Amino acid sequence: MSTHFRVTLQPSGHVLAVQPGESVLAAALRLGYDAPFACQQAACGICRGRVLSGTLIYEDDVKPYGLFEQEIADGYVLLCQAIPTSDAHVEWHDVRAPGEFAVKKISCAVQSLTALTDDTWRVLLQLPAHTRVDFHAGQYLQLHMPEPTGSGTTARAFSIASAPEQTDQLELHIRAVAEHTSAREVIRHLQTRSVVTIELPFGQCRLPNNDKPLLLLAGGTGFAPMKALIESSLARAETRALHLYWGAQTTTGLYWHRQLLNLAAQHPQLRYTPVLSHPDADWTGATGFPHLLAAAEHPDLNAFEVFVSGSEAMARAIYQNYLLRGVPEAQFHCDWIDLLRGQGAL
Ligand code: FES
Repeated sequence: MSTHFRVTLQPSGHVLAVQPGESVLAAALRLGYDAPFACQQAACGICRGRVLSGTLIYEDDVKPYGLFEQEIADGYVLLCQAIPTSDAHVEWHDVRAPGEFAVKKISCAVQSLTALTDDTWRVLLQLPAHTRVDFHAGQYLQLHMPEPTGSGTTARAFSIASAPEQTDQLELHIRAVAEHTSAREVIRHLQTRSVVTIELPFGQCRLPNNDKPLLLLAGGTGFAPMKALIESSLARAETRALHLYWGAQTTTGLYWHRQLLNLAAQHPQLRYTPVLSHPDADWTGATGFPHLLAAAEHPDLNAFEVFVSGSEAMARAIYQNYLLRGVPEAQFHCDWIDLLRGQGAL
């Protein structure tokens, strides 16, 4: 029998291990989370959350005075008293894990938009003076844009390619192939606006608080968060080993290749292995799948903190393959996997 119930919070994707008989709020506080609450007696309603799946119950003597009848009918519960009796998904806003920063919405100037290849752009956003923006290397932001229909706004997620140690600007890498309409709209938006609205930080990927080596597996512009992780680790003068495997179809897709070779030459703890799936005729480097090459070169995979960034299909394939090879879930870091887990799809 399980010794705890897994309660997955939305929209954050945090997973709480709640002990039998424990309320969700009590578990969150025990685990060091910052969560909204006040009375802890089912009276104020500040800890309200909506049950999306699973079962939560109250002790017999608890009456949820802090909720309106309609809220109860809509599935809301008071999490200071609600006790899970199964794994569950609960919508509960403004909950932050230990060390997590508050999400901020800010306006910033589009400093430059540079073509890295025919279809990939490097975007630099200038942060407003005297505005502190906190995030962890490996996290992502959301760019807010008007809906194409003209009513309301929509948000597009992009990994941050610069390290948090660089405090005056944020860097993004955006691939916008001709048939990818929404990405083309983003580029058009950035080309026509001098100021844009962003919201950050999001995501659970970040440099771990240990000195384990990092295995960084990137596909295409999935390189962006890896660049932030590498630059942040070097800026902190960490000595941990960093091994980046960057997969692309051809050399054109390795848009930061020369800079990575230079960086690896300056920092012996950084190894860089480019891997092509459709190699150019004169390519003498590695070919195939980056994660299989990495597994062959590092039979001790579970000694690493593994970071994966690229397409959903790539993330799923590596997750399944690496768990079978003995990588613990806690050492596997990937936004796609967090998202799928949050949706109950894994
Ligand atoms: S904290 Fe007041 S109702 Fe839960």
